[in-house]
Amino acid sequence: MLVSSQSSTVGPAIPIAIHISDRIPEIEYHPYVLAHLDPVMDLHKKYNIVVQSYGPLSPVVRHPTGGTLKPVLKRIAERLSKDSGKEVDESGVLLLWTMQKGAVALTSSSKEERIKKFADTETLPELTKEEIDEIDKAGRKVHFRGYVSCSRS
Ligand SMILES: NC(=O)c1ccc[n+]([C@@H]2O[C@H](COP(=O)([O-])OP(=O)(O)OC[C@H]3O[C@@H](n4cnc5c(N)ncnc54)[C@H](OP(=O)(O)O)[C@@H]3O)[C@@H](O)[C@H]2O)c1
Repeated sequence: MLVSSQSSTVGPAIPIAIHISDRIPEIEYHPYVLAHLDPVMDLHKKYNIVVQSYGPLSPVVRHPTGGTLKPVLKRIAERLSKDSGKEVDESGVLLLWTMQKGAVALTSSSKEERIKKFADTETLPELTKEEIDEIDKAGRKVHFRGYVSCSRS
């Protein structure tokens, strides 16, 4: 599932959905926190707790260089674009990855076109198991959080 909410740092945005439930925990979740959050995600899975992932695009929009994931996401975006006939970028790949990992992708945008594109993510082909494994492997090589100041690449 994909949720887009209004960004607090910009002007008016178009919310697709604001909130699902107050009982759904929100954590920063993307491939660059994977190694640290595996035990947390395993625990959530064990107790059937759905997690909302905020900052899912951090590897693309916040990491200073894009890191080890950059070429991997680019190649997968090209594969998805070719197979779907739609223009898929690295953000689309990360949102698919988040959803296929079982989390709710909580994203935001101030731009109508981007929000439409986010919503269209749910119509894209799925990532293959090999692609998910490749993203996981590249993600585990870096620890980076977009919402704390003590991150390192
Ligand atoms: N519970 C918590 O502690 C907590 C913490 C943080 C956030 N949140 C919630 O989670 C929501 C989503 O988090 P997030 O906003 O960090 O999600 P995100 O999906 O990681 O980032 C969305 C941001 O990335 C930008 N963006 C998207 N695609 C881009 C691209 N291709 N190139 C450049 N910039 C791009 C958007 O800017 P544009 O406006 O330019 O499209 C938007 O500002 C927030 O709105 C907030 O409600 C909760």
